Amino acid sequence: MTSVTVRVPAKVNLQLSVGPRRDDGYHDLVNVFHAVSLFDEVTASDEPAPREASGGPPVAVTVEGESSGQVPLDGSNLAVRAALALAVRAGRPPDVRLRIRKAIPVAGGMAGGSADAAATLVACDALWGLGAAQDDLMELAADLGSDVPFALVGGTAVGTGRGEKLSPAPVAGRFHWVFALAEGGLSTADVYAECDRLREATGEQVGWPRVADGLMEALARGDAKALGQMLDNDLQAAALLLCRPLARTLAAGREHGALGALVSGSGPTCAFLADSEDHATSLAASLEAAGVCRRALTAHGPVQGAEVVP
Ligand code: C5P
Repeated sequence: MTSVTVRVPAKVNLQLSVGPRRDDGYHDLVNVFHAVSLFDEVTASDEPAPREASGGPPVAVTVEGESSGQVPLDGSNLAVRAALALAVRAGRPPDVRLRIRKAIPVAGGMAGGSADAAATLVACDALWGLGAAQDDLMELAADLGSDVPFALVGGTAVGTGRGEKLSPAPVAGRFHWVFALAEGGLSTADVYAECDRLREATGEQVGWPRVADGLMEALARGDAKALGQMLDNDLQAAALLLCRPLARTLAAGREHGALGALVSGSGPTCAFLADSEDHATSLAASLEAAGVCRRALTAHGPVQGAEVVP
């Protein structure tokens, strides 16, 4: 049996500015992605599928770890779709077994499903000896989902279009984070729809999104205090309406000295910027003790995107 394991990070959005709804149902964005040290691992192997799986989908998948029971195992699994898409592109059978070990919260607004799809592209490319060009993998990734290309590259990057067109953002040093995991998840599509409804109800004029200069400067200087003040997410109001306890979680983080607090992507995970690793550890303990989250995890960023584990 041959196998390849790929490690892939979660993301938090430092700025998520949502423009008008497009004709294709998506929204044009300015989406500043930041990869953080919460990792899923995907192992692709050519071990034959068990007997009971024969006649089932050609890509067999198992999932372990953080909320793994909520991850679909059928053709709707984004990692399965990634393996199938790569096999079609390569003109080969998609025979592969995928084993996903999850640490990224499921449906948590940290792009865990997208991360697993990106990791699967890299793992299957190596397992099948394809040597696909990075541009080809990026194109397949964008077809799979708006956040999948970023999971391939990691670091910190500005996403435009629906989030799939990336340009790297220079960052000095390392930032320390706490992620407060909520009970259950939120559907990304539902949160965007709620954002549209809110805007319609309030008659808000939706302008063309643009990247905040102050955010880019804070990143380039490695200035956590300034970064904390610049964190901004247009989906936050919608996520708070769909998951009301999150307002208390955000308030508790601020009370315990977070430099900045926001809902991560479409939520419900809340992200808090700390001013040191020690501060992140104590902030996580305070959030758990306050009973405002299911669990609080510490992490740092930026980290690199999907990479083969030697
Ligand atoms: O691209 P992805 O499949 O991850 O998007 C999930 C859903 O999020 C889309 O179906 C859409 O409702 C919403 N979305 C959006 N605009 C974006 C990205 C996602 O409306 N730029």
